[in-house]
Amino acid sequence: MKKAIYPGSFDPITNGHLDIIKRAAGMFDELYVGILINSAKNPLFSMEERVSMIEEVLAEYPNIKVVSFDGLLVDYCKAQNISVIIRGLRAVTDFDYELQIAQTNRVMDPNIDTIFLATSLEYSYLSSSIVKEISAYGGDISKTVPKTIEKRVHQKRSSQILQRPTVSETP
Ligand code: PNS
Repeated sequence: MKKAIYPGSFDPITNGHLDIIKRAAGMFDELYVGILINSAKNPLFSMEERVSMIEEVLAEYPNIKVVSFDGLLVDYCKAQNISVIIRGLRAVTDFDYELQIAQTNRVMDPNIDTIFLATSLEYSYLSSSIVKEISAYGGDISKTVPKTIEKRVHQKRSSQILQRPTVSETP
């Protein structure tokens, strides 16, 4: 049984991620979508929220498993008998970062390979950060994420606005 993992922060998952996931799921017996902590990022959604959002949009794919974990990706792969890591490449600007991660993972575990899938052209501009940026200013994100995710992003933004401390008018 050939297993692969598509790891990422998915904060939130976008149509570009889903494009890669659906294509990769057709190439392997089982595809894990691994939600990980990227220490360089400050997430909008909690890990539990991201898991439930992704499970919801991928519910109809029987060979896709949504998982979350802490620690090194290669350690998780080894424990689960996963030998392939999938990453998407949108443009040449992704390449340096992706190559460095792939080589780092390979130094740590030479039994695990990274395969890059070229993002479909219509999603080459898209990232989770772009989705968050548009929504932060009340823009339309309907072309960037599925309907259910769009709803969750709007709910999150509204709850953030409600939680914002009110500024006292008198000094
Ligand atoms: O979607 P992202 O934020 O580009 O994904 C990056 C991610 C989460 C795949 C990467 O940060 C990662 O693999 N983190 C887990 C820790 C790890 O294994 N680090 C070693 C590779 S640098």
